[in-house]
Amino acid sequence: MLRVLVLVSGGGTNLQAIIDKVADGTVTNTEIVGVISNNYGVYSLERAANAGIPAEVVSPKDYPDRSSFNRALLAKLEDYKPDLIVLAGFLVVIPEIVIQKYEGRIINIHPSLIPSFCGTGYYGLHVHKAALERGVKVSGATVHFVDAGTDTGPIILQKAVYVEDGDTPEILQRRIMEQAEWEILPQAINLIARGEVKYVKKPDMRS
Ligand code: GRF
Repeated sequence: MLRVLVLVSGGGTNLQAIIDKVADGTVTNTEIVGVISNNYGVYSLERAANAGIPAEVVSPKDYPDRSSFNRALLAKLEDYKPDLIVLAGFLVVIPEIVIQKYEGRIINIHPSLIPSFCGTGYYGLHVHKAALERGVKVSGATVHFVDAGTDTGPIILQKAVYVEDGDTPEILQRRIMEQAEWEILPQAINLIARGEVKYVKKPDMRS
């Protein structure tokens, strides 16, 4: 069984998609061993509780500085002995000490077709606002492994979604979640659980 730990910051619709697809057998050989949120009071925590999954908060607000938060987060992750860490709308930049320990075992869902509309500052509605401002006719979502950069790790799955006349960032966000994110994030976990995806570190292109 692949031990999956899900990290969240908000409402947790992606978490719910994973829970549902593990429960109905679409995602095989997978156990969700825990949910960690960096925010108190978010609906993700209730979703975990409703599914009987242990959930807890590790908030930067509870630590005097970033490096002590980073160490606490790493210690908490280690408690769950995860085979795979899934960032499902987790808005904290993953600390270097976590990447060093778990590189190749962390995946993220990003709400655009990388390399468009990604990198620093492109999160939440900012992504969809930028896509609409640029006037793209197609956007979508990407599941990728997490490396030391922002949205730079190897891509696992992508799915395109049409932009429609009259879209607002909110409408486009919702369509991309429904048509792409909730589908490809569980699908990527299933591929990893079945051993059908292997992490290959990207070559360093700087030299
Ligand atoms: C999703 O759009 C995800 O791609 C982004 O944050 C949102 C999370 O939504 N990174 P939810 O908490 O899973 O509902």
